[in-house]
Amino acid sequence: MTVTHDIGVALAVSESGIVGFNRADGTTGIPWSVPEDMIWFRGLCLRRNVIMGGKTLRECLPFLKFWYPEAVYAYTRAFDPDWVPKLGGIDWGIITPQRLKHHPEDEKFVVVGGADTYRTFLPLASWASLTTIPDSELATLADGESYIYAKDIVETIEKEFTLKKVVTQQTKTCVIRYGTRKTT
Ligand SMILES: NC(=O)c1ccc[n+]([C@@H]2O[C@H](COP(=O)([O-])OP(=O)(O)OC[C@H]3O[C@@H](n4cnc5c(N)ncnc54)[C@H](OP(=O)(O)O)[C@@H]3O)[C@@H](O)[C@H]2O)c1
Repeated sequence: MTVTHDIGVALAVSESGIVGFNRADGTTGIPWSVPEDMIWFRGLCLRRNVIMGGKTLRECLPFLKFWYPEAVYAYTRAFDPDWVPKLGGIDWGIITPQRLKHHPEDEKFVVVGGADTYRTFLPLASWASLTTIPDSELATLADGESYIYAKDIVETIEKEFTLKKVVTQQTKTCVIRYGTRKTT
């Protein structure tokens, strides 16, 4: 697929390949809290069009406005009008790889998960930000909860992008790497 827009993926994955977890009630979450990565991540969302899958959107609705995105685009087959007031006035839309091609080429996008959404949009990405979270930061799961794995996405990013460590002023709880797609 030809890359035309400024589109990147931003994800954090544990050393063991975990990207999130399922709760017993069907909702999802991230099984760690690493402020250093969150600060970096919010910087990537600032004034960009944020693309997120339906599951991640449901999870992030209460605090999306604090990321100050240009707009939020949902990768979903079930957009719920009840989500709109919770977006706090942020512009929104529905997105698919096909719809993305109809956006002006000067628009900037960042894909912020989850796993299915990264897999869908990664072929279109020209840059990637990959944070490695130590397994020691993983929260213990309760009964009925299960991890969501994304080792395949990490492998694809490491193969197709040239990544360099991001130097931050924070404590080194995680390793953040950022880079652009290798040219063939
Ligand atoms: N570690 C990180 O950096 C990071 C970042 C973000 C999220 N996460 C985690 O990732 C997990 C969620 O990932 P996930 O893979 O389960 O879900 P997801 O990527 O957030 O959302 C998947 C959704 O994509 C929509 N979809 C799938 N196929 C589609 C199609 N052909 N056309 C339109 N929409 C389609 C569906 O939405 P509908 O069901 O609404 O139709 C589906 O539920 C959570 O645990 C979350 O916390 C981690």
